[in-house]
Amino acid sequence: PPGSRVSLTVNGVRRTVTVDNRTSLLDLLREHLDLTGSKKGCNAGACGACTVLVDGRRVNSCLTLAVRLEGAEVTTIEGLAKGDRLHPLQQAFIDQDAFQCGFCTPGQIVSGVGCIQEGHTGSPEEIREWMSGNLCRCGCYAKIERAVEQAAG
Ligand code: FES
Ligand code: FES
Repeated sequence: PPGSRVSLTVNGVRRTVTVDNRTSLLDLLREHLDLTGSKKGCNAGACGACTVLVDGRRVNSCLTLAVRLEGAEVTTIEGLAKGDRLHPLQQAFIDQDAFQCGFCTPGQIVSGVGCIQEGHTGSPEEIREWMSGNLCRCGCYAKIERAVEQAAG
């Protein structure tokens, strides 16, 4: 089938792939690069399970066309730990017991990293507001908010 070549950096590694023009970033990650940490919840921009950072900003990867990402820097949940050392927000999710089934967790954590980097952690209300794009069917919101608070320091 007709496709386009796209070169982008994923978790610090340069990748070049040929994809159908309709391929989402989420499918590129999961189907072409075997990075299955980002989850496909709704595939329609409503749940946040697929959240990744593109050039440091949070996006729903299910709504992002892969072919538009030439030269972009993408960070996924797989790119947050440094060797054996968890990212402070990953550790905070463990400390605060901020997940049950875990399906929403990769998106929550990547979104939380974005939330902290953007400086939207001034109060519990602000954290809740800026994390509101990430749904949790298990209802872990209070603990998720505390985990973001912990990692934000
Ligand atoms: Fe992308 Fe739900 S899978 S927002
Ligand atoms: Fe189950 Fe959030 S931990 S959906």
